[in-house]
Amino acid sequence: MIYFDNSATTQALPEVVSTYAKVSEQVWGNPSSLHKFGESAWNLLEQSRAQIAKLLGANPGEILFTSGGTEGDNLVVKGTAFEKREFGKHLITTTIEHPAIQNSMEQLEELGFDVTYLPVDEHGRISVEDLKAAIRPDTILVSVMAVNNEIGSEQPLVEVADVLKDYPKIHFHIDAVQGIGKGLQDAIMNDRVDFVTFSGHKFHAPRGTGFIYARAGRKIAPLLTGGGQERNLRSGTENVPAIAAMAKALRLLLDHEQEAVARELTIKQTILNHIQGLRNITIFSEDTANFAPHILCFAIEGVRGETIVHAFEEQGIYISTTSACSSKKHLASSTLKAMNVADDVATSAVRVSLGDQNTLAEAEEFNRVFDQLYAGFGKIMA
Ligand SMILES: Cc1ncc(COP(=O)(O)O)c(C=O)c1O
Repeated sequence: MIYFDNSATTQALPEVVSTYAKVSEQVWGNPSSLHKFGESAWNLLEQSRAQIAKLLGANPGEILFTSGGTEGDNLVVKGTAFEKREFGKHLITTTIEHPAIQNSMEQLEELGFDVTYLPVDEHGRISVEDLKAAIRPDTILVSVMAVNNEIGSEQPLVEVADVLKDYPKIHFHIDAVQGIGKGLQDAIMNDRVDFVTFSGHKFHAPRGTGFIYARAGRKIAPLLTGGGQERNLRSGTENVPAIAAMAKALRLLLDHEQEAVARELTIKQTILNHIQGLRNITIFSEDTANFAPHILCFAIEGVRGETIVHAFEEQGIYISTTSACSSKKHLASSTLKAMNVADDVATSAVRVSLGDQNTLAEAEEFNRVFDQLYAGFGKIMA
């Protein structure tokens, strides 16, 4: 079996699962309790926070635990809007964000906020000039993803940060769910960013885990109110076993980041070289300079994405139509739509997404199976 759907989720590592199990059994207190069971849970929670902060070059107080990327994105976007609504009602984002951002923005528009969606070019990248032109005196947030989850394009985060240095009051948020462990840490944790969203299950931690980086002194309103956990910004008893497991997963990921990125690039290039130039193949992640190492999106024109996915599955290779969210709804990729890709091409697109566990031998096997399927698709394509 070859798992090439790591952007949908990754398999939790055995040592991460074992941390989860051990903490569940042994450190089961509520971190808010005053007795010794509470204290040991609290200590482990804060140890995990400190470990994550250190790995990212942040302060422990700047890490807030959430249930994943969707919650982090909602918290930063709506939390900024609710907190800063007296100062302004304008937000800026891109046309290719994950639905967690996109739908949060739409909800805010229904509440009277005004949103500018920056367009992208044919490589799925925004222009900094467009950003400069969109900024207004009442702008309160700029939210830009690090790596697009459907085609893998990287946004010019450092350039965006430079522009926003002239606007210190605007919150700058990066959705880094697809960017962690991909050699982009300096660009993501840049000196201007205020909030960053991370999701544990994209780096071998359990599903339902995540955290945001929230720069000290930057205020957002909470969405979940209650017992006041996470500095009053995210009430709810902390999931200590999952948080400890996530801290471990992040350490393991970043321990071998460089070699994993190099391997992913080689795997991606091996597949790219194989399919480039073939009749009816359109590649959307071709320009490797501005693309993450782990995502490769291409279409076999004339064959529906679902058909391609199932054909690979029959051969034991797991890929996806462009995103897990759109897969079951049979929707065309919203990113490709925003890039003005014709509908009949967009519905033929599939995504290969690599992880740090994949090997070059798997890429070679993928290519062998690809040849077989491509020959079989000949009739449909015609
Ligand atoms: C870019 C991006 N943002 C946010 C999310 C949502 O993360 P989660 O699945 O942890 O809610 C995803 C998930 O695929 C994503 O790719």
